[in-house]
Amino acid sequence: MLGSALHYILHYPRRLAGALATDPIALLDKLQDRIVQQWEYRNPVHYHEALRDWERELHRWLGVGYPCEHQAEFYRLWQEVLRSVRAHGVNIGPASFAGYNDGDAALLRAIWCLVRHVRPRQVVETGVAHGLTSRVALEALERNGAGHLSSIDRPPFDPAMRARVGLAVPQELRGRWTLISGSSRRCLPGLLARTGPIDLFIHDSLHTERNVRFELDHAWAALRPGGAMIVDDIDTNGGVAAFYRASRGLKSLVCEAEPVRPDERRFNKKGLFAIVVKEPFMAAAAGTTPAS
Ligand SMILES: C[S@@+](CC[C@H](N)C(=O)[O-])C[C@H]1O[C@@H](n2cnc3c(N)ncnc32)[C@H](O)[C@@H]1O
Repeated sequence: MLGSALHYILHYPRRLAGALATDPIALLDKLQDRIVQQWEYRNPVHYHEALRDWERELHRWLGVGYPCEHQAEFYRLWQEVLRSVRAHGVNIGPASFAGYNDGDAALLRAIWCLVRHVRPRQVVETGVAHGLTSRVALEALERNGAGHLSSIDRPPFDPAMRARVGLAVPQELRGRWTLISGSSRRCLPGLLARTGPIDLFIHDSLHTERNVRFELDHAWAALRPGGAMIVDDIDTNGGVAAFYRASRGLKSLVCEAEPVRPDERRFNKKGLFAIVVKEPFMAAAAGTTPAS
């Protein structure tokens, strides 16, 4: 653990000196997160059983038809997102952003369907990287004609990577977007105090149990009844399982990711994400009765 910190200090002394001069507390936060991550990742797999037909089940919860009427527009958008991000020379997919994954097609479809069907007013996400989840949420809000996305991202120190944060989001979608630079630990409580009740929360930042619990606990307290949380990469840490044990009044789906190429680091070469809803489910917001 200390070995990896030392490796970084020896290889990137200028970046560290810059970070130390501009924001020493952020640097300490980051070092602490890195140590926690290496400690937690001694146990690399947190197994959950995925539901093969999670999309049908989600639409049943939503009280809307399946196959989904919004899927064709999603697939057109997905092709456009792939094309436009690759045009920047990005090898989209697993480990494409400083070791982090871009949002995969299944995660993005879940966001698309929830935003299109539920028409949330306040969406909060953590973890932007190239901005695939942000782009899809913003496109869906734009088509709804209402709603705002607030995103928090603590970018890497590498200036080339920092410049790539949010590159999938075109200028014309940014009117509905607030992008906050910093760690979720530092920025999320203040953001939630400003937004008031939220309708949808997306976790895709640092995947440690410590960080996931912190984010989910805060987001859950701000989530209105009927709201939902999407939690990416639940197979990499114990965060969502610990959250389930501590929480009441929820139901959840475990879903298999669909990366553009195999993710060799994952037990199923894909990864898993969860959709967690706060009862009574949002079908109420869509003007329908939740399926039991
Ligand atoms: C998995 S990537 C996000 C992928 C993105 N949602 C997408 O669909 O393309 C994780 C991002 O979270 C950022 N990050 C890491 N630790 C963080 C923290 N503690 N708080 C906020 N963001 C963090 C990383 O720099 C990276 O940009």
